Amino acid sequence: MTKENIRAEFPLINNEKIVYLDNGATTQKPQSVIDALSEFYLKRNANPMRGLYDLSILATDSYEEARSKVASFINAKESEEIIFTRNASESLNLAANIFGSTLKAGDEVLVSTSEHHSNFLPWKKICEKTGANVKFLDCTKEGIISPESLKNALTPRTKIFTVASISNVFGRINPIKEFAAICHENGTLICVDAAQSVAHIPTDVQDLDADFLAFSGHKMYGPMGIGVLYGKKALLEKLPPFLEGGEMIDYVSKEKTIYAEVPHKFEAGTVSAADAYALGAAIDFINEIGFETIEKTERELTAYALEGMKKIEGVEIVGDSNAEGHDGILTFTVADVHPHDIASIFADEGICIRAGHHCAQPLHILLGIPSTVRASIAVYNTKEDIDAFLKVLATIRPKMGY
Ligand SMILES: Cc1ncc(COP(=O)(O)O)c(C=O)c1O
Repeated sequence: MTKENIRAEFPLINNEKIVYLDNGATTQKPQSVIDALSEFYLKRNANPMRGLYDLSILATDSYEEARSKVASFINAKESEEIIFTRNASESLNLAANIFGSTLKAGDEVLVSTSEHHSNFLPWKKICEKTGANVKFLDCTKEGIISPESLKNALTPRTKIFTVASISNVFGRINPIKEFAAICHENGTLICVDAAQSVAHIPTDVQDLDADFLAFSGHKMYGPMGIGVLYGKKALLEKLPPFLEGGEMIDYVSKEKTIYAEVPHKFEAGTVSAADAYALGAAIDFINEIGFETIEKTERELTAYALEGMKKIEGVEIVGDSNAEGHDGILTFTVADVHPHDIASIFADEGICIRAGHHCAQPLHILLGIPSTVRASIAVYNTKEDIDAFLKVLATIRPKMGY
């Protein structure tokens, strides 16, 4: 697919006069994903797993095919290792709660300080409940978590380390494979928050040797309302379900419950089958473009944006000053101007970016910056988008009287 063809697939950015650079929050949807959603409701809608009639079987097949697509997309060994949730937050809550059943008082959960709140709060809560302790692994101001610092932070009591593959503030790619090897050497599991990476770099759970890996569909061109928790099958089989209800059991009597096999024991109630089906279309879309093109496009745009930003007086980049430290994510401040004022000026010009703490307040506290502004890139963005962004960025201080 050529660059023009990729962009042409996204009706919203073509119909509205906007420059969309808030892809870290959610991506726009290609026509094929929008079509898959309506196709499910037009032709495939019934409650999956419940009926013996053709339509319910078709709904079940659509849902399970989506599971298989996700499994091959992240190179899981088996599709049973894929649990559908609503989003990355729910996936991480699920991981924390099911793994939490193994935690005892005095155990340790190691969390990187740069995590999104979704990969901190569920672990904090489960530690409060079980008497385990949350320990933090700080990064440098460039966003680097070194393998050495991980080694030093692990103790015989560290049961799990949880970390993002790409931080939603720095955009730095963490060396997850190396982290996993260090953790496993210590008998510690690793949970990976891949919310910011699945659409931008290839994910291979077997190569990474991740024990859990979580992400959302809506940040990878899929619909809102669908997320994924991957877990190694042997691990999932040992862990108890989190939510109880319909479709997650094999047998129930007044006295006895026998849970269904994985992954169904973790999917209580009516599932988001249409969203899963459309996530399958998003995976097809990504595969059609290919990660080589995605990475090349996004890295060129990131480097181009960064160079331009460095030339504008008063702009301070959060994290590394080199493009290698930013995979499509550019977080910054402008001297003397509040991030919300910056975002409002951009909004007035039809440019969508994000201001605040980006649900990473412990990180902002560590960096000593209350809030920042973030522009984030996807494969449909163009050099023209970045030029428009830089043009407005250069006007911010003068507009505010500096
Ligand atoms: C790194 C990271 N983890 C988790 C999440 C939570 O994703 P969701 O809101 O889809 O649950 C986000 C969302 O921005 C994120 O950037």
